[in-house]
Amino acid sequence: MFNTKKAVFCWVVSLLCVTPVGAGFGQGKTVDDGVFTQSQVDAGKPVYDNSCKTCHDMRFYRDALKSWDGQPVLWMWEAILGTMPADNPGSLMLEEYTDVVAYILSENGFPVGEETLDPDSNMGDILIVSP
Ligand code: HEC
Repeated sequence: MFNTKKAVFCWVVSLLCVTPVGAGFGQGKTVDDGVFTQSQVDAGKPVYDNSCKTCHDMRFYRDALKSWDGQPVLWMWEAILGTMPADNPGSLMLEEYTDVVAYILSENGFPVGEETLDPDSNMGDILIVSP
């Protein structure tokens, strides 16, 4: 009995104290830290011109980024993947969605860097900040 309680207690404590770090929220990396490459931006531009520009201008994306302030890039990427382009959601390749996010970030003043934006590795740990 006693051991079970102790185990549950430890489990709760570890959830409270360890999870935020384990989930990557302790690292404080943001889209301002050079988390996508120039080649991703270059690849994202034609995708944007062909598939995203018809319905909203860059000002719209700026406001969208503001509304995602403090949330992981992955969440916005997933939202775009599931709903955009609005006339044909999910029609692009995964890489094209990633490139277009890099392009939108770049157009809103965030710097290119050495790191490649990748939904399978780092994207959940990088937070959006308001442009
Ligand atoms: C056919 C028109 C159309 C196209 C093309 C389109 N969108 Fe959208 N988009 C919409 C509509 C409609 C909304 C939701 C209503 C609104 O907020 O204006 C929206 C909303 C969004 C949002 C805000 C969602 C949120 O939760 O913050 C983002 C970001 C976005 N679109 C990105 C894109 C990207 C990236 C592309 C290109 C891959 C794209 N859109 C192509 C019509 C379109």
